[in-house]
Amino acid sequence: MSTQDDVLEYLRYFRELGVESIDANIDAIRSPKTTVPSPIRPGEMPLTIPSSDLKPLSFAIASVEKPKPGSRLKDIPSLASLSPQRTSKTEKIETAPLMQKEQLTDKPQEPQTIKAASETLEDIRAEIGPDCSRCKLSTLGRKQVVNSTGNPNADLMFVGEAPGADEDEQGEPFVGRAGQLLTKIIESIGIERKDVFIGNINRCRPPKNRAPEPDETAACKPFLLREISVVRPKVIVVLGATAAQNLLETNVPIGKLRGRFHEYFGVKVMPTFHPAYLLRDPHKKREVWEDMKIVRDYLNSVAKGE
Ligand code: URA
Repeated sequence: MSTQDDVLEYLRYFRELGVESIDANIDAIRSPKTTVPSPIRPGEMPLTIPSSDLKPLSFAIASVEKPKPGSRLKDIPSLASLSPQRTSKTEKIETAPLMQKEQLTDKPQEPQTIKAASETLEDIRAEIGPDCSRCKLSTLGRKQVVNSTGNPNADLMFVGEAPGADEDEQGEPFVGRAGQLLTKIIESIGIERKDVFIGNINRCRPPKNRAPEPDETAACKPFLLREISVVRPKVIVVLGATAAQNLLETNVPIGKLRGRFHEYFGVKVMPTFHPAYLLRDPHKKREVWEDMKIVRDYLNSVAKGE
């Protein structure tokens, strides 16, 4: 792909994310590092594009050693019963209670990885059941349980917080306005939405879209962790502070978590801003794009066997 094609890809991405006008000089972008002058509206993303970033947006899914769908292996640890542990590669993040305990030991920690699950996504869904009442959200006006969806062999998984009104109505995660923006974010790195797996920490809509409470996430999150064990994605993108802090068991703000990978049982986790937040503050799209480039480049390097 030529540099000009790359730049056009960028421009297409910005347009899809809602930037209506970019007064860019494509010839200028050919130099090694070029700042494209304003005006850029309405997201007002300053376009400083180092030429090193102008990598092809083409994307290949890695061929991976996953069990065949539906295969059943014995002796599989339950991810849901575990909490994240720091490995040598793990980002230092502040500190779920269990992690603090680990930090007190001198013993090197065995890196823990997700092993293939003995169950299928259908098993998990059947266990949850259509009328789940494990937490109080079942009594607080939810219409239905919104299960995860997508490719059970996905290399890329997205995790949100909890369903909103549209999802509650349609029974599928990320189908409202934020979901439409999520689709564009996925497509911006050359992947189709049908090829990723999408879930939420909580499967029932909290009243007035409030954040799920700790007892609610405690009841629901184990099912998501079991799904991660089944799908075994290469990368999990966690959307927004609530989901990121819940999955990584940390109180660190999303602005500090995003921008780099964290390790979660051998899976790379990229926290980034929630698409609903981007709808309120389009300036943050630029950071999400930076995060997604890191994800894209990592998946491409895995696909190439690097
Ligand atoms: N926001 C979320 O976090 N999840 C959804 O499914 C929809 C909106």
